[in-house]
Amino acid sequence: MTRIAIILGSTRPNRKGPQIAQWVLDSAAQRGDAEFELIDLRDHPLPHLDEPTPPMFGPSADERVRAWAERIAPFDGFVFVTPEYNGGAPGVLKNAIDHLFTEWTDKAVGFVSYGVSGGVRSVVQLRTVCGTLGMADVGYQVAISLLTDFENHATFIPRDHHAAALGKTLDQLIAWSTALAPLRRGAETTLESEEAALRGQIEKVVEGLRAKDLEAVRRLYTTDVVSFDVEPPLQHVGAAAKLENWANVFLFFESVTYEIRDLTFTIGDDVAFGHAFARLSGTLKNGAATSGMWVRVTYGMRKIHGTWLIAHDQVSVPLDITSGSGVVDLEPEPVLTAGR
Ligand SMILES: Cc1cc2nc3c(=O)[nH]c(=O)nc-3n(C[C@H](O)[C@H](O)[C@H](O)COP(=O)(O)O)c2cc1C
Repeated sequence: MTRIAIILGSTRPNRKGPQIAQWVLDSAAQRGDAEFELIDLRDHPLPHLDEPTPPMFGPSADERVRAWAERIAPFDGFVFVTPEYNGGAPGVLKNAIDHLFTEWTDKAVGFVSYGVSGGVRSVVQLRTVCGTLGMADVGYQVAISLLTDFENHATFIPRDHHAAALGKTLDQLIAWSTALAPLRRGAETTLESEEAALRGQIEKVVEGLRAKDLEAVRRLYTTDVVSFDVEPPLQHVGAAAKLENWANVFLFFESVTYEIRDLTFTIGDDVAFGHAFARLSGTLKNGAATSGMWVRVTYGMRKIHGTWLIAHDQVSVPLDITSGSGVVDLEPEPVLTAGR
């Protein structure tokens, strides 16, 4: 189903924005033709744009920006709920928009503004910004007056004409968000090229481990990866926690070999799952060689900013029910080659 994010564009204390964003969400939730989520910029504090490379040329190395990109990427369309500051859009919203590129492109956007005169000058600016990013801005919009639509200048009282304008805005937003989906998939993207890209990412895990390059390995996971690794605890939440396991490997191993066998993927538009057998072997710091053990690995992948990342993995060995111990001496079926 089409997914729409309602982005609240003010963050200051005592802001009026949350009442309006919540009204948009509550009204939208009564429709059955899309899924809606509220995103509050307060939950995504971002640096003033300080990227050495413009976002259109590739993903950021900054964890905060990567988390913001991962939050925005899955949505098909957006409603910006915006106040008007000094005749324009709030700086915090413009900054959040500027940090990303691909995550906005070929998606639709609608506006709900508020201010003394309905906040429409903010929307005029945002339409130019969004158009530059390759977004389709819908014509209908909702303009809320701070003078006549708030009781005691404090409590938002939605009127019938607001509900009607929001309904038309969402009608067009959902239609356009849905219609643009083939563009977002990319005309040149084929199942074969996606599979090659996915396999390439797993190959980078292998290469990163061989080179003991923790930063290269980190870039292959989403910032919010949930890993059910073979080692305790039950779960490692977040890239930093996942990387601790690989850092431990580098601590004990002088040289690392990571083998992947029988890797398969099932691929959707921006999610994929896969499974493989994997074995970690090499030479320990004390000079002893270890052949390691084969484990089962399941991958949950997400495509973010055009790049497949590991959002979930599950690593296990079979359990011997009678002894309660893991079985660590099993081998995958040998690979059959021609003539054998
Ligand atoms: C820095 C600043 C500039 C403002 N400039 C305008 C303006 O140009 N036009 C307007 O209608 N309201 C303006 N206002 C009033 C805001 O519309 C009002 O404070 C509104 O509640 C802001 O939204 P928020 O409470 O969600 O931050 C301004 C407010 C601030 C803080």
